[in-house]
Amino acid sequence: MLELLPPPPTDPLWDLTYEFGSDERAERLNLVLGVYRDHTGRTPVMAAVREAEMRLAERSESKEYRGLSGNAAFNRALLDLVLGPQGPSDRAAAVQTVAGSGALRLLADLICRTRPGTTVWISDPAYVNHRPILEAAGLAVRTFGWCDAEGGFDAAGVLRDLAGARRDDVVLLQGCCHNPTGADPAPQDWAALAELAARNGWVPFVDLAYHGLGDGLEADLAPTRLLAERVPEMFVAVSCSKNFGLYSDRTGCAIVLGASDRAVRHAETALQNAARTLYSMPPEHGAAVVTTVLEDAGLRELWRTELDAMRGRIEANRTDLAARLTAMGWEAQARSLARQRGMFSMLPLTAQEMLRLRREYAIYGTTAGRINIAGISAERIPCLARGIAGVLAGR
Ligand SMILES: Cc1ncc(COP(=O)(O)O)c(C=O)c1O
Repeated sequence: MLELLPPPPTDPLWDLTYEFGSDERAERLNLVLGVYRDHTGRTPVMAAVREAEMRLAERSESKEYRGLSGNAAFNRALLDLVLGPQGPSDRAAAVQTVAGSGALRLLADLICRTRPGTTVWISDPAYVNHRPILEAAGLAVRTFGWCDAEGGFDAAGVLRDLAGARRDDVVLLQGCCHNPTGADPAPQDWAALAELAARNGWVPFVDLAYHGLGDGLEADLAPTRLLAERVPEMFVAVSCSKNFGLYSDRTGCAIVLGASDRAVRHAETALQNAARTLYSMPPEHGAAVVTTVLEDAGLRELWRTELDAMRGRIEANRTDLAARLTAMGWEAQARSLARQRGMFSMLPLTAQEMLRLRREYAIYGTTAGRINIAGISAERIPCLARGIAGVLAGR
């Protein structure tokens, strides 16, 4: 039977990561995947997470099945974290998922079960997995622009494109730290987007994968909370991969907001049904860790401090890179880099130039120009700046 299978496409990001694995140059630098690394180049287990794991190991008595929504305390804690203590959680439900990707897929399934063929608008460029996940669930995808010519957020262009979104269309927005561009709407742009959604009746679908790594936890969550207050219905996919460092524990949740209690309960059951046919129930460990951290004042404070330190290091990397490029005469390019937010930076290089960066300098970013600015130790920044400047000089 398998002889019938035509050669399937492989994942371009993982292909680059494997290529990096067989690159023998000592100076090689992997900036492809979105993983935070500390100053020693390691992806650490956060101290708050480590402490929560120790406590769990001591008191854990059973690994019995959890319910279909996963860990109920985790779902409550994430509703509280995302919507805020005064937020509209009375008209919301959360279902634990297999990380942010699982949340995106479950919510896409829910949308398709509710209204087959619904159009979901995604940014262009978008997170590489948005379109495949939505299309795999059976949804139609349309795009709206995101950046202006300098690589900043194009408020006028986005509002113009989204004027075409109709009532009951869904618009997928990244809540902060846009992947891949690092270009985020300003608070007044978010207010305009919320206004447009409320007026035209499209449903926001917020993807939250980097909260805490842009301008700070509260500031990064503010757009999601604003939207939640302004619209009757909304979806939120939450990932704990980056901000708790729980990448391989696959931890996240799907949140729905509805206009009535009845609609919210139906949506919750539909999410459970979708999970049941995909993987039945999500893994417990990461959810138990997050709950332990968020429910304990001391651990929560420690986590916030660590998250702030991670954000500070990312910002320091970005500032240093921009300063070095400016000093080398690439001021305009440096300015656009310095404005970006979160783990990623979009280099002002073409696909061909990204290939040169890889071949000549052993620096691996995506073909589209994205690098993980959080994936590099401070002492390697000069080497990154030299590579980028070298490629730019070859124009
Ligand atoms: C924008 C965005 N959404 C969702 C995800 C999914 O993250 P995970 O499934 O690892 O939680 C990612 C991961 O890189 C992302 O960048």
